[in-house]
Amino acid sequence: MANITTPALRPADPRFSSGPCAKRPGWTLDALSDAPLGRSHRAKIGKAKLLQAIEDTREVLRVPADYRIGIVPASDTGAVEMAMWSLLGERGVDLLAWESFGAGWVTDAVKQLKLADARVLEAGYGEIVDFANVDFDRDVVFTWNGTTSGVRVPNGEAIPADRAGLTICDATSAAFAQDLPWDKLDVVTFSWQKVLGGEAAHGMLILSPRAVERLESYKPAWPLPKIFRLTKGGKLIEGIFKGETINTPSMLCVEDYLDALQWARSLGGLDGLKARADANLAAIERFVEANDWIGFLAKTPETRSNTSVCLTFTDPAITGLSADDQAAFAKGVASALEKEGVALDIGAYRDAPPGLRIWAGATVETADIEALMPWLAYAYEAQKASLKQAA
Ligand SMILES: Cc1ncc(COP(=O)(O)O)c(C=O)c1O
Repeated sequence: MANITTPALRPADPRFSSGPCAKRPGWTLDALSDAPLGRSHRAKIGKAKLLQAIEDTREVLRVPADYRIGIVPASDTGAVEMAMWSLLGERGVDLLAWESFGAGWVTDAVKQLKLADARVLEAGYGEIVDFANVDFDRDVVFTWNGTTSGVRVPNGEAIPADRAGLTICDATSAAFAQDLPWDKLDVVTFSWQKVLGGEAAHGMLILSPRAVERLESYKPAWPLPKIFRLTKGGKLIEGIFKGETINTPSMLCVEDYLDALQWARSLGGLDGLKARADANLAAIERFVEANDWIGFLAKTPETRSNTSVCLTFTDPAITGLSADDQAAFAKGVASALEKEGVALDIGAYRDAPPGLRIWAGATVETADIEALMPWLAYAYEAQKASLKQAA
């Protein structure tokens, strides 16, 4: 190990976690000073802030005027499950999964809702389900960007505009970094803690007119708790989509989300955010191309995520190890980087193949990604040297 030297440059911010993600550059607690704390969220000022959050979301994400946008409880998970429990069961459903979050929605539909007509289409880590095999006249549940494998849907071309079913899309690590083709999506969900570096616990639920039509014409066979109820007397509760939340939101988190949206607008909105994430991915791609011991978990370049970038060690000296030893090696690299204070929380997700996962969303500075890359080489070499010593 003696000849392995640490790189001279360190990332200014070592936060590369895939959620909660790094806050925007320059963020301080002062950004929250305008929060109407100790006031009712139903007071004029609270309602105005919540409505502003909805309107700014529409502007930045370019959500069509006839789509509803609601702030709902329990983060992205709450928004997805609210949609699944409220909409599914009217017709058969195709459930797509290529990593653990998609697999979680499969469990919901098959084991909890026990839907009689559910087809599961799965692909392994690094791959993606072939959308040509999906029947869009059924409902379809899928994740746009698989956060734990770094595999994303490249575009919406395979989804027909004139489908009969509803598309329910968990876009939590895609929204604000990737294009979402609104005409192909009936339900889109995300949480504030991802690409905009906001706070957790609040979910966003976006509904197309066809999703609303389903809500108003179909009543699921199972009971719905208050926290999931989007209709009353067969009519959509419109207030939810104007900032009259079902239960009490944190106005501190709302203020933080408004700050993040303001920052997004200052960059030129979605295009500015996407450009930052793309530049971060490009910096990692340059490094991977120059080093033959590391590769992307995503099998094809067009499915490579520009937010949750998952890397694996491709060196035969590592791939030849037992599964447990490979996992220990990857963990060793991640913890060495953490100990050095240059990268926090970049170990692969617990259910994913061993490797590293680097968040590259818009709040992360490209200079920090660039500064991190030589550290990956350093930690890899150091870990490999310690393997040799142990042998
Ligand atoms: C694709 C995806 N779905 C769902 C979730 C769960 O999000 P939350 O914890 O905000 O409910 C995550 C969180 O990482 C995710 O990446």
